Amino acid sequence: MINLKGRDFLKLLDYTREEIEYLIDSAAKLKLEKKAGIPHKLHTGKNIALIFEKTSTRTRCAFEVAAYDLGMGVTYLDSSGSQIGKKETIADTARVLASMYDGIEYRGFGQNIVEELAKYSKVPVWNGLTNEFHPTQILADFLTIKEHFGTLKGINFVYMGDARYNMGNSLMVGCAKLGMNFTACAPEKYFPDKALVEECKKLAEVSGATLKFETDVKAATLGADVIYTDVWVSMGEPVEVWRERINDLSDYAVTKAVMQNAGERAVFMHCLPAFHDLGTTVGKEVGEKFGLEYLEVSDEVFESKQSIVFEEAENRMHTIKAVMAATL
Ligand code: CP
Ligand code: NVA
Repeated sequence: MINLKGRDFLKLLDYTREEIEYLIDSAAKLKLEKKAGIPHKLHTGKNIALIFEKTSTRTRCAFEVAAYDLGMGVTYLDSSGSQIGKKETIADTARVLASMYDGIEYRGFGQNIVEELAKYSKVPVWNGLTNEFHPTQILADFLTIKEHFGTLKGINFVYMGDARYNMGNSLMVGCAKLGMNFTACAPEKYFPDKALVEECKKLAEVSGATLKFETDVKAATLGADVIYTDVWVSMGEPVEVWRERINDLSDYAVTKAVMQNAGERAVFMHCLPAFHDLGTTVGKEVGEKFGLEYLEVSDEVFESKQSIVFEEAENRMHTIKAVMAATL
């Protein structure tokens, strides 16, 4: 019997395979209930605080809607409208918020900050994205893959682009834990952190997963089930890195040729937001400056039948709900 009551959710490395599978399966159940109009106010009367030191659409909305569905109240805090980071330390913030709220979500910079928050908080802390990890995103991604393919074990998962940041790291850990075949397809300097790779290799030995690091796009993507990518410049990184990233990663954009090489069965996934056209302020600015119509994924792939990015985005809510339902 899995019991996660009182646990933080800071990174997938802290959870066993069975616990991760339990959260994914609970999310599927909560999703069915929601679609059938069956209420699940499992935590009526509780309240949660959401701290966002970086911007968000999906994660914030997912936490808020999930909290309302569970019968809870929500307070949103950002760095400009609160004392966090300027006048009050994380340790003090943790103790204040934990005295009023039943759970705390944190999105921000270093993983050490969310770990510190959890250390000083007597209520569960959930990681809503740090530079190093984005664990709630992986639950949504894996629920989406399970819905599509009926299984996770043995899925050939290829991550293209900047594999050394939060998404590449977390997806590698998730695949290693759950027995999936993970390939990072990128120039060598964008491969995940060596120490994390070593840790994942040990996990893979237990789960039956495989881990590959490949610079050749054709070889990496041939026969893949999932082609996954993320932005090339993440929140909090300086604008000066754009030129280098575009130079380094342009060959690793997800195009029709990549999807064809993967095959008809393959799906395209992205945590979003995505630069698939010039329809955003940043997209337009960068696109015009570098003479590009898209960055990490072409609009053709993004809008194609193989793209399941919006199913994936919806699943953020169901999976975050499962995390809160289980840990509160
Ligand atoms: N995927 C994701 O975390 O989206 P937001 O930045 O909009 O929360
Ligand atoms: N790597 C991206 C993920 C956004 C969900 C970022 O950190 O900005």
